[in-house]
Amino acid sequence: MNIARYEVFEQLGRGGMATVYRARDPRFKRQVAIKLLPREFLHDPNFKARFVREAQTVARLEHPAIVPVHDFGEHEGQPYLVMRHMGGGSLADWIERGPLRVEEAAAVVMRVAAALDYAHGRGVIHRDLKPGNILFDEAGHAYLADFGIAQLAEATLALTKSGVYIGTPAYMSPEQVRGDLELDGRSDVYALGIILFEMLTGRQPYTADTPAKLMMKHVLDPVPSLRDLDPAQLPAADQIVAQAMAKDREERFAGAAELGEAVGSLVGDTSSQLIAERPITGVGKPPRRASLRHRWSWILAGLLLLGTVGGALAMGAAARGETNAGYRACACNSHGDRGPLIDPDGCAQPYS
Ligand SMILES: Nc1ncnc2c1ncn2[C@@H]1O[C@H](COP(=O)(O)OP(=O)(O)O)[C@@H](O)[C@H]1O
Ligand SMILES: [Mg+2]
Repeated sequence: MNIARYEVFEQLGRGGMATVYRARDPRFKRQVAIKLLPREFLHDPNFKARFVREAQTVARLEHPAIVPVHDFGEHEGQPYLVMRHMGGGSLADWIERGPLRVEEAAAVVMRVAAALDYAHGRGVIHRDLKPGNILFDEAGHAYLADFGIAQLAEATLALTKSGVYIGTPAYMSPEQVRGDLELDGRSDVYALGIILFEMLTGRQPYTADTPAKLMMKHVLDPVPSLRDLDPAQLPAADQIVAQAMAKDREERFAGAAELGEAVGSLVGDTSSQLIAERPITGVGKPPRRASLRHRWSWILAGLLLLGTVGGALAMGAAARGETNAGYRACACNSHGDRGPLIDPDGCAQPYS
């Protein structure tokens, strides 16, 4: 099979919204990864212009820890993005095998924080930071993928003026859950705090049996202590997680660079590339545990927000949205007191 000029070899993975393939670019004779976005996106008359704009913005993000985007286009009615093929698997694959050592976790956070700091400085917020979007090259260096995708999907799925939010429940900051319209880089800092917790302990700070309950925990539940789970964790690591995950973004690190520095001071200079010391063979295809994380690794598009009512309404809608559990790629709009509606295109697929 071909997508435009690219020869497709195999499917690398499927997220809540897109399918990613390993392919070859015959022009440059190199491997690439192609992300095929849903054809439904093209139903929106504004999508094409937005897609071009987003792709151009993302392609201008040139940073040693950001997965480069090489090309984009439309193939048989489906939009696609071509990016560097990352041969070292994703951080989700690594965490699947158990907790990382503090030096390994710090190496990941420092690279990702530097990438975020760079992007935030150019006005680009990631908004869907999660282990599945942190990919490794063959040498074990971490790169951030999928800048701009959440924004693009959000704008495209925003069918009403009330707005739609895209995010992944386990990593959504309290302000994202509440549906605040004015997000900034500190939402990414929050998600990176969650990822740090997850790398160090092998589990997420909040778990629940429905996405709605999970989202509410970001708003209501105290930040769990690393040391309660594992007394061997460093007190300083606990403090960093607590600050990155503060409910009030004013109490978080002011920016990703500050978080990166704090994590750097945990380990000194010695941390870079340590993940490369692990054998790479088989990375990307570790045995999958049937975990809630994977049941929920879809993108939840949710939540309303009519400015003034924001928080309370969002919480109510989240609670009523519990019936969405068991579905992936849900686009839910607020329609006043009727609560979120399930988008028939996006939500009709039960988990496999
Ligand atoms: N550039 C890439 N190189 C190699 N694998 C990739 C690349 N981009 C994505 N993948 C793989 O494809 C999977 C699906 O990606 P995606 O659709 O972005 O979903 P998600 O980010 O929710 O996991 C990822 O988890 C990852 O394993
Ligand atoms: Mg992704």
